[in-house]
Amino acid sequence: MIIKPVKLIQGQLQLPGDKSISHRAAMIAALARGTSRLRDFSPSEDCAATLSCLQQLGVTVIHDHQVVVIKSTGTLKAPSESLDCGNSGSTMRLLAGMLAGQAFTATLTGDESLRTRPMGRIMEPLKMMGAGVESEAALAPLIITGRSPLAAIRYELPVASAQVKSCILLAALNAEGRTEVVEKKPTRDHTERMLQWFGVPLHITSASDSSAARIAIEGPAQFDARDVCIPGDISSAAFFIAAAVLLSGSNLVMENVGLNPSRSQFLAVLRSLGADIEIGNIRDEYNEPVGTVQVRSGLVPASNSEARHLSGAMIPALIDELPLLAVLGTQIEGGIEIHDAGELRVKETDRIAATVANLRAMGAKVEEYDDGLKVGGPIRLHGATVDSRGDHRIAMAFAVAALIAEGETEIQDADCVAVSFPGFFDLLNSAVKR
Ligand code: S3P
Repeated sequence: MIIKPVKLIQGQLQLPGDKSISHRAAMIAALARGTSRLRDFSPSEDCAATLSCLQQLGVTVIHDHQVVVIKSTGTLKAPSESLDCGNSGSTMRLLAGMLAGQAFTATLTGDESLRTRPMGRIMEPLKMMGAGVESEAALAPLIITGRSPLAAIRYELPVASAQVKSCILLAALNAEGRTEVVEKKPTRDHTERMLQWFGVPLHITSASDSSAARIAIEGPAQFDARDVCIPGDISSAAFFIAAAVLLSGSNLVMENVGLNPSRSQFLAVLRSLGADIEIGNIRDEYNEPVGTVQVRSGLVPASNSEARHLSGAMIPALIDELPLLAVLGTQIEGGIEIHDAGELRVKETDRIAATVANLRAMGAKVEEYDDGLKVGGPIRLHGATVDSRGDHRIAMAFAVAALIAEGETEIQDADCVAVSFPGFFDLLNSAVKR
């Protein structure tokens, strides 16, 4: 993909349905009895992988444009072939939790990237619950031999990961007794909210200064189908919001954007950097907060230094937006510094290494750390050839960088945007003014 600089971005945009919430809606509907209609379902390749795995598990899936209908008896059937999760870590880790409590054996596999990502983090709790999980070097393919019912456990998450938390909560639906997950750093809570929407009672104790958050479920739990409308994906909106902030004269409005606090810290960070972001019409829909986001160009020239240091408990709520924030850092007086984000190294690619290499190719001054990076600013970026490394969020973050760079930028392997946002380049083209 070749991208040339543009003047500004404007208009009223419709974002695709949230990828994280779509995975959960489909999986939980597959465990429910009856027919669930899921509107504004994510068009991402990742969520398509989830749907095709569910079909292989005997669930009826009818996919018509943005509506997905799921019909299930609440029990899954043994698949005749391996379940291919494609590029999707959420599909693999959450499905593993569902399969752990089924009385059959199934194999989960994925693409080259997914087969290098750490799975020990879900293998340990699932084995503690009594499931059989075989793999080589704790990498996919994973062969899961379920046990019904599983044993309930109390588990403290060793890594801040919503995927690991969700894996255990989905397994807990088929466990005998009370399973409790202890979470020191809060991560996205879509699984908890979706389970509650489907009528599964959870006992949630929020984190305080002295104690971590706890989420408990009594198993086994049976529940009925529900309809869901999926909010717009804030992580997809983020690229457009960043472009609007950076291109002077821009003005964007996005309705029905998911504003779950465990996902929307990107907006808070931009605001503390002086961005003009208005949020209105906030309401709860299907147990998730949604609203309208309006963004106009501009950042405060000398931003406060606290806002430019991203670390600690805020990181999980910003995790998918960090490469984009590094791009934004090149345009901020004093730049941006990110720490405690070692998890970025085990995403679809090593996102720290990819961000550092691509920013340097575009002329930025960057220091790389084990757990983050530091980028200086402001600097005029120059067009370059950048490598997405097959990672959708790297491709989109550098598409934003290309819009403000001098000269032409070539993004290699740009088709990978379809992993989360197949219409990304079309929507971008329709909204920019040259
Ligand atoms: C996701 C959780 C995050 C995020 C990923 C989607 C989810 O991963 O990076 O894109 O849907 O639960 P971790 O929870 O493993 O950090």
